[in-house]
Amino acid sequence: MSDLESMKEYYDRRAPEYDDWYLGTGLYVSRQRPGWEEELWEVERVVADLSPMRTVDVACGTGFLTRFLRGKIVGLDQSARMIEIAAWRVPGGRFVVGDGLALPFKDGSFGRLFTSHFYGHLNPGERDRFLAEARRVADEIIVVDSALRDGVEPEETQERLLSDGTHHEVYKRYFTAEGLAEELGAGKVLFSGTWFVAVGARLAAPDPKTQ
Ligand SMILES: C[S@@+](CC[C@H](N)C(=O)[O-])C[C@H]1O[C@@H](n2cnc3c(N)ncnc32)[C@H](O)[C@@H]1O
Repeated sequence: MSDLESMKEYYDRRAPEYDDWYLGTGLYVSRQRPGWEEELWEVERVVADLSPMRTVDVACGTGFLTRFLRGKIVGLDQSARMIEIAAWRVPGGRFVVGDGLALPFKDGSFGRLFTSHFYGHLNPGERDRFLAEARRVADEIIVVDSALRDGVEPEETQERLLSDGTHHEVYKRYFTAEGLAEELGAGKVLFSGTWFVAVGARLAAPDPKTQ
């Protein structure tokens, strides 16, 4: 199974307990995460303050952050179990099961592509595919992801445990907000904390003269 396939399987299994990570419940109940809750509120405010726009949330998971987006909202995730929870949580949105690296949308369908805690799971080739798809369907991108901090490496393979006792290997990156902004191409830092970063960037089509 490829890294991407095993990541998909892991998150599909994790769907019913995914929000425990945000809420500090279940397997996360004894995690020491000083300032987590306050930062999460700040990230939620950053998302809620984005101007209303036709937006696709790629790899929306349970819709935990999707619910703060304003405008016409489409959520996409490869996991039917995630999508079921997201659709329940965000009744005004449209939710589809699909592949974030081969988006089932026409060119220019959205003003904005939002993605949280997905970009950091992609290897270099997958990142290129994802960003090419983002450029094809939207004018701007917002990425929320995990902040680089003490105790983690910028890039690591992690062993993850689920409540059913299964173990999974997951590729994961941690970002400085400035580093992520540069990687996305002259991005703007929207939030930089101990736990989370958020960056926005224009998605200019590649210049045909330089191709
Ligand atoms: C860490 S979760 C993030 C969920 C949500 N965006 C959030 O921030 O809470 C990663 C999500 O990526 C989804 N995913 C993994 N590979 C995908 C792919 N190729 N296409 C679409 N979604 C994918 C998983 O199903 C999972 O819901």
